[in-house]
Amino acid sequence: MTRKYHIVGNWKMNHLSQDIFSFFAEFNKHADKITCHAGIAAQGLHLPLIKEHAPKGGFFEFGAQNSANNNSGAFTGETSPEAIKDLGCGFTLVGHSERRAIYGEQDALLNEKTLLALEKELYVIFCVGETLEDREANRTEDVVRVQLDEGLKNIPADKKSKIIVAYEPVWAIGTGVTASPQQAQDAHAFIRKHCSEKLGFNGEELIIQYGGSVKPSNVDELLACPDIDGALVGGASLKPADFLALCVAASK
Ligand code: 13P
Repeated sequence: MTRKYHIVGNWKMNHLSQDIFSFFAEFNKHADKITCHAGIAAQGLHLPLIKEHAPKGGFFEFGAQNSANNNSGAFTGETSPEAIKDLGCGFTLVGHSERRAIYGEQDALLNEKTLLALEKELYVIFCVGETLEDREANRTEDVVRVQLDEGLKNIPADKKSKIIVAYEPVWAIGTGVTASPQQAQDAHAFIRKHCSEKLGFNGEELIIQYGGSVKPSNVDELLACPDIDGALVGGASLKPADFLALCVAASK
């Protein structure tokens, strides 16, 4: 059986409520063309609106962009994984490069967040990726290896199937510069091998998404790579026509 692709939009800190209503008014008209898994990661405030307006057919999931390393208590400004689950979210992102670079989130914290989200039965889209400096110094695999080893430590065997890895080279995020299919494929093949040989994942089942300037014009060549199982999409997920085009491309 061929696996379904997973296309997830990361809206980051974009959209107001009216944009969400109009996004789904348009997107839902064509939802019957989608047979891949699709989802949107949104700001916490917007998740109830997405829950109300997103397609209900089961192929669509909504989730958080970040999740705390505690379930409740005096942690002003944080979003609890328990509350994320309670609202009906299917997943959370952990370790997006913007969290790592702008908010200084480090491997040990990301590991705590991952373990707690898994405990609450959320899927975790765990993001890794190298900077341009790392790539130019030939350190891509070393950087990604450490991010995986440290961030995905101590995951119980029965929870490993709830991890999705997103490979997002930092130099390709929001820049319009996409990794070439060969660059992306090489990194994905490395991630699959490392997760299965060193971290005890089922390599054949592990979903690895590519992220970084994915758009309708380049999605086909990326998805054609044997180790690319989907995409995590920023800018092109904000417009319903573009996001729909990506989901339809992944439904062929
Ligand atoms: P862009 O698709 O805008 O490059 O963003 C990628 C990303 O960061 C998704 O998480």
